Amino acid sequence: MKDKLIIFDTTLRDGEQSPGASMTRDEKVRIGKALERMKVDVIEAGFPAASIGDFEAVQAVANAVKDSTVCGLARALDKDIDRAGEALKGAESSRIHTFIATSPIHMQVKLKMEPEQVIEYAVRAVKRARQYTDNVEFSPEDAGRSEEGFLCRILEAVIEAGATTLNIPDTVGYSVPEQFGATIANLIQRIPNSDKAIFSVHCHNDLGLAVANSLSAVMNGARQVECTINGLGERAGNASLEEVVMAVRTRQDFFPCTTELDTKEILTCSKLVSSITGFPVQPNKAIVGANAFAHESGIHQDGVLKNPETYEIMKAEDVGWSANRMVLGKHSGRNAFKSRMTELGHHFNSEEELNDTFFRFKQLADKKHEIFDEDLQALISEVNSDAEEDHIKLIALKVCSETGEVPSSTVTLRVHDQELKGISEGSGAVDASLKAIKSLIGSDATLELYSVNSITNGTDAQGEVTVRLEQAGRIVNGQGADTDIVIASAKAYINALSKLQTPEQRKHPQKGNV
Ligand code: KIV
Ligand code: ZN
Repeated sequence: MKDKLIIFDTTLRDGEQSPGASMTRDEKVRIGKALERMKVDVIEAGFPAASIGDFEAVQAVANAVKDSTVCGLARALDKDIDRAGEALKGAESSRIHTFIATSPIHMQVKLKMEPEQVIEYAVRAVKRARQYTDNVEFSPEDAGRSEEGFLCRILEAVIEAGATTLNIPDTVGYSVPEQFGATIANLIQRIPNSDKAIFSVHCHNDLGLAVANSLSAVMNGARQVECTINGLGERAGNASLEEVVMAVRTRQDFFPCTTELDTKEILTCSKLVSSITGFPVQPNKAIVGANAFAHESGIHQDGVLKNPETYEIMKAEDVGWSANRMVLGKHSGRNAFKSRMTELGHHFNSEEELNDTFFRFKQLADKKHEIFDEDLQALISEVNSDAEEDHIKLIALKVCSETGEVPSSTVTLRVHDQELKGISEGSGAVDASLKAIKSLIGSDATLELYSVNSITNGTDAQGEVTVRLEQAGRIVNGQGADTDIVIASAKAYINALSKLQTPEQRKHPQKGNV
């Protein structure tokens, strides 16, 4: 029997620290449920002390997720630990992750603390966290640039205080694989009580080495890897979950451990995170990029036709590519629709909501005969945003686009029960439509990102548009999907404008004082 490698996903916490990758509470719950379906062991849902909204988001994920452990991050401060403990009360299985910096530069410049004081804070935090749960993780922040001797002392002390997981972060992405692996081996060997805790790693990708460093650590005794979907995360991101998991799975001849993930869910998670955050996946991204399994050259194609193993080391369907199958169609009934939506994690709160969503599904099926899971995910996004935030509704949109003429768009909106109609010109149909909406709402928000992705294949596919807006330092993402990309763009823009009109509940982690 091989050891189990624990997969700790921090898309909802470190992933959200990517500039612009903000998520609402409900979006976090949807991603949390998708991670749970993939059988991720631990989901770090956020930083409860950062703001009331962050607290509520962690609480909502803790209440919704049953099969994965839900974790909350806390600085080594009583008030942070208490907030995390409180937010996680509803979880079936909870973990508190507390951290304090241990590198000379962080201790001197940021914390202005002596090393002995840092050890005291760490021990106190772990003991306090143990009052809420017996599953406590400790991280010496910037461990990659910390002195090994000091790491040994602080880690021995926190194990003694009750920490069950010791996470070694390469916070600034400075490490290289051989050296990082050796550090893990040395720590395990030098710390007298190291057998009482699981060693974990958390690598950032500043030098493009996050996955390599994580895997080197695994070869040297780490049995938990912290990672994110699509490698999202602060600056250059974190180690990518899909790359770590598939490397370990594909090279079972090499790695001494296995994960228990349902890898077929990888692609769905990747698309969901990309659509919610507005961070597109590059086509040549390993595992989840559109070209990851495409063979272009004739020699490769010929080989693959003769035997896929000539050029393929993994099966595309093992990470969910062929799951892109038709699941429902024009003739599907309400029951089939309801049960697939439930499998995708969407629960209907009332008969009325089911009827309304089913009606939208039928409308889509009239335009597009084959309905895939990705189409249903887009429908869920639309229903959720309508239910919660969109006090602005698109009633009608008519574009006039002709070669040699200036495109124009006439838009009718309902804003808080008032109907408004306006017309604008633009450089194209999308530009004209967004200008018309902007002037009707009177918004001064600036557009930071506009991206269109085709949800599935074919010219009848829905286009999914993500729009990122910034207003007075606040950043929101809006999504919209439709078989017509001008309408999808209008929906996404309206979704983002609606979010800006609701009071800010969650401070983006980068804007908090933490
Ligand atoms: O990168 C880092 O050091 C972190 C810690 C909070 C684990 O994200
Ligand atoms: Zn990090």
